[in-house]
Amino acid sequence: MSLLRIEQVSHRYGKRRVLSRQAERTVLQDVSLTLEAGTCLGLLGKSGAGKSTLGRILLGLERPKAGRVLFEGRDIYGTHPKDYRQDIQVVFQDSFAAVNPKLTAGQIIAEPLTNFTRLSPEALEQRLITLIEQVGLTGADLAKYPSAFSGGQLQRVCIARAIATHPKLIVLDEAVSSLDMVNKAMILKLLRELKETYDLAYLFITHDVQAVQALSDQFMILEQGQIVGHYPTPQAFDQATDPYVSSIKDAMLATHPRKRTIRK
Ligand SMILES: Nc1ncnc2c1ncn2[C@@H]1O[C@H](COP(=O)(O)OP(=O)(O)OP(=O)(O)O)[C@@H](O)[C@H]1O
Ligand SMILES: [Mg+2]
Repeated sequence: MSLLRIEQVSHRYGKRRVLSRQAERTVLQDVSLTLEAGTCLGLLGKSGAGKSTLGRILLGLERPKAGRVLFEGRDIYGTHPKDYRQDIQVVFQDSFAAVNPKLTAGQIIAEPLTNFTRLSPEALEQRLITLIEQVGLTGADLAKYPSAFSGGQLQRVCIARAIATHPKLIVLDEAVSSLDMVNKAMILKLLRELKETYDLAYLFITHDVQAVQALSDQFMILEQGQIVGHYPTPQAFDQATDPYVSSIKDAMLATHPRKRTIRK
């Protein structure tokens, strides 16, 4: 059984008001995909293609108008959220917006642990130290507030929070997009290590061809809510010639000539 199956999901956003002239907009149309445990699906597409909407749907946050989302064979919209919440986590692009600035890193990482597990205060403290060290920070960082971290460091805190409950799937919605080159490479390396260690699956949403190649086992291109390309292996994606993939590869080559030889 696959970890995640999305079957013919369609979604549209309705009119905001009854008399609004704004028509309903189809944002996703007949999207199907399968994700196996321990693998990464790279989801590429232009701004507004529907990528984040798909991410929210599989996090259980937005019920699709049609289709099914099966996590370990069970439809998440027919299941009590507590049955899968712990197993599917998310890391967003903007780490500062994703945390409460009034909480310390320790409190931020502890949140899912106190929600989903029953640890004694000592066991919780020990777990927090293990988690923060796992993402390359130190026990002393647990007492710091978000404002004391750089963007890259705070993204590590968000990753520690995401892995705290041993999820099976993490949605990475542009999770490395606002980081500089060095931080991006380090976070991608960390994500790859965590994937191996915990047999984690990722839905990696991005515009970044180089980043997506560093982490993904299969690739999909979403355009105006539809899957217009599916590459089941890194080799297939590398050789892809469809216009969208070519255009983003060309754009990347034009702006960053030195990246031309860099591959996974
Ligand atoms: N809550 C909402 N209500 C109405 N329309 C929405 C809502 N959320 C998203 N949309 C619209 O749905 C479309 C898809 O949005 P979505 O955020 O999924 O795109 P995206 O591929 O993640 O884009 P980006 O790369 O810019 O993050 C867009 O046209 C957007 O304006
Ligand atoms: Mg988005």
